[in-house]
Parts: sequence; structure tokens; C-alpha cells
Amino acid sequence: MAVNTILLDFTVKPARFNEQEEQLIKILDNFFPHLSKVHKREMDDGGFLLLFTAFRGSFITVRSFPQGLITINIEYYKQDSEEEILSFKCITKLENELDEVFGSSKSNKFPPMRRGGINRYYPTSDERILEYDIDALVFEEKSPYQKVQIVHSRTLGNMLILDGLQNLSDRDLIYTETLMQRGKESYTGKEIVILGGGDGALLHELLKENPKHVLMFELDEVVIRACRMHMRECCGDVLDSMKGPNYEIILGDCMTSLEAMIKENKKFDYVFGDLTDVPVTPTPQNEIWDFIRLILKTSIKILKPGGKYMTHCCGAACPGAVKMFEEQLSSLGFEVDYTKATAFIPSFLEDWLFYQIWKKEKDD
Ligand SMILES: C[S@@+](CC[C@H](N)C(=O)[O-])C[C@H]1O[C@@H](n2cnc3c(N)ncnc32)[C@H](O)[C@@H]1O
Repeated sequence: MAVNTILLDFTVKPARFNEQEEQLIKILDNFFPHLSKVHKREMDDGGFLLLFTAFRGSFITVRSFPQGLITINIEYYKQDSEEEILSFKCITKLENELDEVFGSSKSNKFPPMRRGGINRYYPTSDERILEYDIDALVFEEKSPYQKVQIVHSRTLGNMLILDGLQNLSDRDLIYTETLMQRGKESYTGKEIVILGGGDGALLHELLKENPKHVLMFELDEVVIRACRMHMRECCGDVLDSMKGPNYEIILGDCMTSLEAMIKENKKFDYVFGDLTDVPVTPTPQNEIWDFIRLILKTSIKILKPGGKYMTHCCGAACPGAVKMFEEQLSSLGFEVDYTKATAFIPSFLEDWLFYQIWKKEKDD
């Protein structure tokens, strides 16, 4: 079940729309059975709005903007099982015919956006829409913290979506390997903390490297339950049990656990920040960056000398966020050094940035 929306736009000389209306209607009439003009309005800005209905309750709006743009929106209902009513070839033909009528210098068209039913659209870090070839909703539950969904993509396998943001897919091993700097860092015999990481992928990959112990602090039992069932390509069997010979998963806010570690003076070789891009905070902060800085500061405090805080940051397409992140690193109240790495993440269709941060010792 979906309502399809097709969008077209034409850049034209500042509109002389009246002259073209008749021709426009003729062309639309050829493409849309039962076309009927129901409304025409002259707009305050000097442009026009035309509204048509057509086959099976579909409707078409044509808006001419006097600045030199005509937009056409076509909306119709389509069963999932039905053949596409307006193929891309058909939309291209419509675009070409209208191009001629409008004498447009530039035109664009979008294949149908499908609304209703399973969502296929998720944003990139810089808020562009990506359409995935999603064919099934595998899991959906609202936890006290976020909406947890697992969907299936024909290309990417299962994908974990938290609050409408893509987190990890079956094809994203490179994400975890870049986060842990596989091959560059040695985890054998090391004591490690993971903040977040509820998909279990990082824990699964770290355990392959024979660490002494890994402690994972994840807030949301629903994420763990969903991934245990449906993200097994990423997490293997590590989420089947909350405790193993050399790991333990503790449910709760990572800040509470970090503070407890500080009180107990516990120290670790590595702390991983594998939280959602906007971490969940039970105690509201004025600014999300205040919370991120607090996590950074507290995590680095529980590192052994020479220990590292490893984290993902954001899309390389967001220089503002990168700058903000690096500003946090220079306002922790102590000096740190860092390296960074970039990897192209298949399910994000973006380059993603990862940081390796350590406290500068006095004689560094
Ligand atoms: C699924 S992981 C991996 C992040 C991911 N790779 C991405 O793209 O952002 C993120 C986890 O952080 C957890 N999380 C968020 N805020 C948290 C907090 N304050 N304490 C512990 N876990 C938290 C979420 O529940 C989620 O399961």
C-alpha cells in the first residue's frame, strides 16, 4: 500500500502562464485518464495554482511561480502488487513534452516517492534523503528511549534504525573495523569498556582479538533483543548471553556506570564511544555538545596511562559538526592528542569519521 508522489519542476522565463494553460491541459489529458480541472487560483505573488483530479482519485497540482519556476506534483494511490502506473520512461516523456510547451531552460523529475506502508527513506548526516531498497519491516518496538526498527534491504541485508536514523547494516563490517582500527591497535589481553554498542557488532569483533575483558554499558534492552534476533551477521551469538567468560553487558545509562568506575578507581586500556550520534541522556543537558563533552571527559578519566578513547564522530559532509567535536576535545580541562580515520560506510552512502583520542602525559 502506498501513495506515490511524482514531482517535476521547470525553470522558465518569468511566467506568462495564461498563454500556456490550454496546451498544458492538452498534454496532461493525454497522460492522465479522466483529467478534470477543479480549481484555478491567481496567487498573491502573481503566480497561478491549478488543481486537477484524474484516474482513481489521483490529483495533480500545477504551480507557476512568477520568479520563473513551474512545479507539478502528481499524487496517486498504488497497491504494492500493481505494476507502476507512471514509469520513469513515461514521466520523462511528460517532462519532454512540457519542456517544449514551457520553453524551459532546465527541468527535473523525481521517480515516485512512496508514502504509507514500509518507509524506504532515511536521511544522511547532512539531511539529504536516501532511498533504500527495503522490502520488509522485520522488527519494530518503541522502547522507553527510542523507536527501534530492523528493516530488510535487498542490497544491505538487515538494517538497524533508531529513531528514524540508520545505525548499522549487515554490510557495514568496515564501520566496526575502522572504529576499532583493526590491525593498528592490539586488543589481546586488554581491558575494554564499550559505551552503547547495543547492536553487539563491536563486542563480537573485539572478542575475536582475545581481550582480557570487555564491559559493555548499553541503555536499551530492546536494541539488544532486536539485534540478538535479527542482526546476527553483525553480532554473532554475543548477545545470546549478558555475560561470557571475558565479557559482560550491563543495562543502564553509561554515564552512571562511568561515574561508578571513577569512584571505584577502575582503569581500562580502551574505552569505546559507540553511542547513537545523539546519545540518550536521562538527565537533560542544555546542549547536546555539553553531554558529548561530559562523556569524553569522563571516559578519558578512566583510561590507564597510554589508554585510548575510540569513537565514531559524524559524516565527513558535516564540517560544522567535525569542528564542534574538535572544539570539545580542546575544552576538556586537560590536554589530549588524537588521530582520525575515515571510511566509506555502505549503508550510510557516506564517508564517516572516527577518532582515536588519548590524554597527553606531562612529558609528551
Ligand atoms: C546501536 S549502537 C551503535 C551506534 C551506531 N553505530 C551509529 O551509527 O550511531 C548505539 C547505542 O547507543 C545506545 N545509547 C544511547 N545513549 C546511551 C546512554 N546514555 N547510555 C548507554 N547506551 C546508550 C543506544 O541505545 C544504541 O543501542
